[in-house]
Amino acid sequence: MSHRALALSALCAVLLAPGLAAAQGEVNVYSYREQKLLQPLLDAFTKDTNIKVNVISASSGLEQRIKTEGANSPADMLLTVDVARLQDAIDNGVTQKIESPVLEKAVPKNYHGPDGAWYGISMRARVIYASKERVKQDAITYEELADPKWKGKICIRSGQHMYNNALFAAYHAKHGPAKTEEWLKGLKANLAQKPSGGDRETARDIAAGKCDIGIANTYYWALMNDKEAERKPWADATKVVLPTFQGGGTHVNLSGVVLAKHAPNKANAIKLMEWLMSEKAQHMYADMNYEYPLLSEVKLNPTIAAYGTLKPDSLPLAEIARHKKAAAALVDKVGFDN
Ligand SMILES: [Fe+2]
Repeated sequence: MSHRALALSALCAVLLAPGLAAAQGEVNVYSYREQKLLQPLLDAFTKDTNIKVNVISASSGLEQRIKTEGANSPADMLLTVDVARLQDAIDNGVTQKIESPVLEKAVPKNYHGPDGAWYGISMRARVIYASKERVKQDAITYEELADPKWKGKICIRSGQHMYNNALFAAYHAKHGPAKTEEWLKGLKANLAQKPSGGDRETARDIAAGKCDIGIANTYYWALMNDKEAERKPWADATKVVLPTFQGGGTHVNLSGVVLAKHAPNKANAIKLMEWLMSEKAQHMYADMNYEYPLLSEVKLNPTIAAYGTLKPDSLPLAEIARHKKAAAALVDKVGFDN
């Protein structure tokens, strides 16, 4: 449905049938997630519940859009990756508390926003892709990435990309500003080339011999290995190593949900959120999206399981979000992307 149609239908609901919007059996989802990953999940939800899902997809600006739409916004919920984006929605004042005993119980505590502000739905880890040929070690810490022994050997995408921002924010939360700055300088000094491309290109550049290791998300390697024949050689040339913080675990990030402040179909939005934490949906996240399910009884996809046992770092994700601005400022200060 177009934005205008959504706005109109919400407006009609308000004018003609106040309070009856929820009875129409719809839910309006604003989404930062890739449509092809999301649609099978939403189709399965509609099949299970008869609730129609209208999606507005964008790669940026959805919080601002909800804000501009104000009290007439048709948005019921926002689906996004990255905890900082969940926090952005809260900071923009476009959300309301999610009251759901189901989510409260099903989602592990570290992956709740403060006071039901948001909930994580699925998880990914930021890990190391390493050359099978040139890198013998199969354990590494994030701290070690600044060790001069890796000089000229590391590839990474922009330090301001949200995936790296969250990792650097976690570093900042653990080690403070001075040590984080020093670490970022060390990491930058070890780069084989200017930060560029995405996580898949990091594997490509390792395969091409431009660098020995890179920093990337867990699901890209699995996608290249299992589903993307033209990129299979990049997966073949690399292995995935699960790094940890010294004395900690592996940095993880989330996909998650917030409830829109003026949600016209609030009950249906909560139904969808709860459904996304059902066993069926969590299996789909694991097997189609190669993410880590948050429902503990759901098995990992075998390709992801083969990386080894993930021990997620214990830092609450909400705490990481609080350090994102400081981390971004340090990335600029050290000229990380220059
Ligand atoms: Fe991604």
